Amino acid sequence: MVGTVWPPPKVSKRADRARLTRVAPATVAYRCPTGAVGQRPALALPVPRGGPPARPRPLGAPLDGIAPKVTANYSESVSASVTARAPGKVNIQLSVGAVRDDGFHPLASVFHAVAMHEEVTVAAGPAGSGIVIDGVSGLQADEVPRDSGNLVWRAAERLAAELDRPAPDVRVSIAKGVPVAGGMAGGSADCAAALVALNDLWGASLDRDDLARVALDLGSDVPFSLLGGTALGLGRGELLSPLMVRGSFHWVFATATRGLSTPAVYGTFDRLVEGRIVPEPQPDEAVIAALIAGDPRALGHALHNDLQEPALTLRPTLRDVLEAGLAAGALGAIVSGSGPTVAFLVADPPGAARVHSAAAGLEQVRAVFSTTGAAPGARVVGRTA
Ligand code: C5P
Repeated sequence: MVGTVWPPPKVSKRADRARLTRVAPATVAYRCPTGAVGQRPALALPVPRGGPPARPRPLGAPLDGIAPKVTANYSESVSASVTARAPGKVNIQLSVGAVRDDGFHPLASVFHAVAMHEEVTVAAGPAGSGIVIDGVSGLQADEVPRDSGNLVWRAAERLAAELDRPAPDVRVSIAKGVPVAGGMAGGSADCAAALVALNDLWGASLDRDDLARVALDLGSDVPFSLLGGTALGLGRGELLSPLMVRGSFHWVFATATRGLSTPAVYGTFDRLVEGRIVPEPQPDEAVIAALIAGDPRALGHALHNDLQEPALTLRPTLRDVLEAGLAAGALGAIVSGSGPTVAFLVADPPGAARVHSAAAGLEQVRAVFSTTGAAPGARVVGRTA
């Protein structure tokens, strides 16, 4: 079942903002990940002048499954640092059309966020210090750029410009849980987490739709990293419709010793389809039905990725990884996005353990992760006063 398209079409944002007024801060319950539990004032929310008062919404949602309690006070305006978390993803379906005039390809993609996360912490830096990415830890941390080549850097510049702020002085640290250049949108997750964290640190009032529009300027997968869950993506992947999914799915991801370049994989797709008529990509009803039914067996059969053949052309050894997982009982195996990470759908945790050990034994596999989906999108998970 498909919901409404997200983000909604653009409606002259600056003009809209000029018509906005603010309501008094309300109080929302909040639990920070250090274990401290408290109550903080919600940000003043913009509402149309003369319209009904907006229902206050917390920017930092309570942690999953934890009922918020009340013992202390927080205020965004005095946050010294803000931490946001965003998930990696696998494309359950990735159907690709012929390259467009703007160099992008039209997609029909079913994005599925999984519980492998990037965490980005932002704090104000000294005046004139600019953007400093001063701490990267976790998975493949040494492969992460610390300069303007990092999407987090561009997110800070782009968000500051959107808010008419001067060039930002901000310190950023990143804790990585999603592979670099792995086809799981790790860089996009950093970018989405940075947008959410900076929006909060700067006390800005951009809502999710505003952030999604900023996100698209930064990368095709960034709007989905903000949204999370499971969603159909059309256009270049940015026209998102949340999908209804029953239960959760078990996944095993085998990361590769070397990454693959996304433009190179799309370029190989173009070469492979040269001279052929490429159909306009369409949502796959079998995928959507399996998600609604929460049926991992049906979903395993329906997994489909048009970038798999190009990825295998560039990295033929991935074929052995796919086959090893299937031989160990995976319900389905697929290259994740533009690869080279391979995703295995499994029935349950024992099934995950079998596939995990089969993949871990392969020379071309760097690391293996067992996890679940769907996971929530980018959100604030902590503040320090
Ligand atoms: O949008 P993003 O920066 O993530 O895209 C990286 C590259 O992937 C693009 O420059 C383009 O070569 C390719 N791409 C594409 N069609 C899409 C998404 C990405 O061709 N829908």
